Amino acid sequence: MDVPEKSIVILDFGSQYTQLIARCIRELNVYSIIVRFNTSAEILKSLNPSGIIFSGGPASVYGETAPTIDHEILNLNIPILGICYGLQLIVHILGGNVDSSSNREFGHAELSINETSPLLHKLGEKQNVWMSHSDKVLSIPPEFESIAETENTKHAAIANNDKKIYGIQFHPEVAHTPCGMDLLHNFVFSVCKCIENWSMSSFIETTVVNIQSKVKNDKVILGLSGGVDSSVTALLLQKAIGENLICVFVNNGLLRSGEPEYIKDVFGNRFLLNLHIEDATDRFLEKLKGVTEPESKRKIIGHKFIEVFDEVAGQYNNVRYLAQGTTYPDVIESVSINDNPSAVIKSHHNVGGLPEEMELDLIEPLRTLFKDEVREVGRQLGLPKELNLRQPFPGPGLAVRIIGEVEKEGLDVLRKADKVVHDEMIKAEFYYKVWQSFAVLLPVRSVGVMGDERTYENAIALRIVESSDGMTADWARLPYELLSKISNRIINEVHGINRVCYDISSKPPGTIEWE
Ligand code: XMP
Repeated sequence: MDVPEKSIVILDFGSQYTQLIARCIRELNVYSIIVRFNTSAEILKSLNPSGIIFSGGPASVYGETAPTIDHEILNLNIPILGICYGLQLIVHILGGNVDSSSNREFGHAELSINETSPLLHKLGEKQNVWMSHSDKVLSIPPEFESIAETENTKHAAIANNDKKIYGIQFHPEVAHTPCGMDLLHNFVFSVCKCIENWSMSSFIETTVVNIQSKVKNDKVILGLSGGVDSSVTALLLQKAIGENLICVFVNNGLLRSGEPEYIKDVFGNRFLLNLHIEDATDRFLEKLKGVTEPESKRKIIGHKFIEVFDEVAGQYNNVRYLAQGTTYPDVIESVSINDNPSAVIKSHHNVGGLPEEMELDLIEPLRTLFKDEVREVGRQLGLPKELNLRQPFPGPGLAVRIIGEVEKEGLDVLRKADKVVHDEMIKAEFYYKVWQSFAVLLPVRSVGVMGDERTYENAIALRIVESSDGMTADWARLPYELLSKISNRIINEVHGINRVCYDISSKPPGTIEWE
């Protein structure tokens, strides 16, 4: 693991907010990474961080399977901040008491700051903070002092200023704690003495140099899907190695309206990338004939993609590397507490599986970045806003938005309906505010009347959701006028559709895509 100077390392105890902590620190222009809670003191020391944060987590320190740390970490003389479970763990290990109460404290609380400390410097006496815990600290370890309280929590913040070990019961990383960024700022700069040395412009500079020295005069191949991650990867690599980058765009026939032409225009004509467009529509549709089961569809599309990509790559000599748009959330090892491994709900097929089959070395220049950082890199490299801020689109494309068998006719209908949704969402300025907005073609037919004629046609479901990471989602409460406009336009303009429904299921229990 390569960690730049003056970074913060976060030990993850399974909190849903761990990634948010890392993003907050990076927003302060300080690099931060997430490692598992059981990372040894020796490894941590070798990373040479300027500070360590213990995240929150769902466990109780008294639980049988409670995650804990290598106690030596507390003797490394590196400043530490424990958040929620992190605080309780510090207290528990160093000889204080934690009450395993069953009363949850959840939501806003007013924090009263009692003692001055570098952590709470300049925060003002009263602060609104966000709590989410059931256990709480009853007594603090020797050599610590209590520096803030709330009505329910006597030790809402504790400090050992000499050893630079701090703990807070509330969550500074969530937006509901308005002073949270100031507190993290204090920890990172006043306590840990970090400097602002993490920015996307310096990331671009160093990454370009690194790619150049690694690749030299070899060729790199990249599956360009037109999503944000592969697009930014393409521009970054082009900046580094120019035409030694070969971008392969596979048209699987399952793309949105006008997509292949748009990709050709942006990357081929405007950015002058070395772009290979492979139209494999017939090959994909042939394989999908008669297939209705969602997982089978996904598998067929995934395998076909690898086959086509492999063939195209074989047409180029001296290709030594395969580039991928892997980002940081893809590589953070998720911590499952209480034996709760998250089940595979759907198989996601992108370029996964390619490296093993192709025997190419991997290049993943975005591996350390969060999505908002990837977008900032894209912005700085001149990626058009429509591409840089575009909504996610699944690898298997429209095939998972046509329920049942995928055929050309259905795809044409869905494309038209989907374009109406897209255009109206843009026009109403909602496209960039929601996580995803798209149409799904349902294989049910219902009776309608158009003019004086009876119709018997298919239905479209609108799936428009809000989400922050795609893991959970809720349907967007859009203005009725907008929904009405979308519905009217689809029914009037898309031949074969006489009914539009709005999907008002959240995730969970629904998923965002229908298949
Ligand atoms: P679900 O349907 O599982 O989707 O709630 C969560 C998010 O993932 C996207 N998605 C995919 N993305 N390859 C992808 O790159 C896939 O196979 C895939 N399947 C779903 C989906 O659009 C949503 O944003």
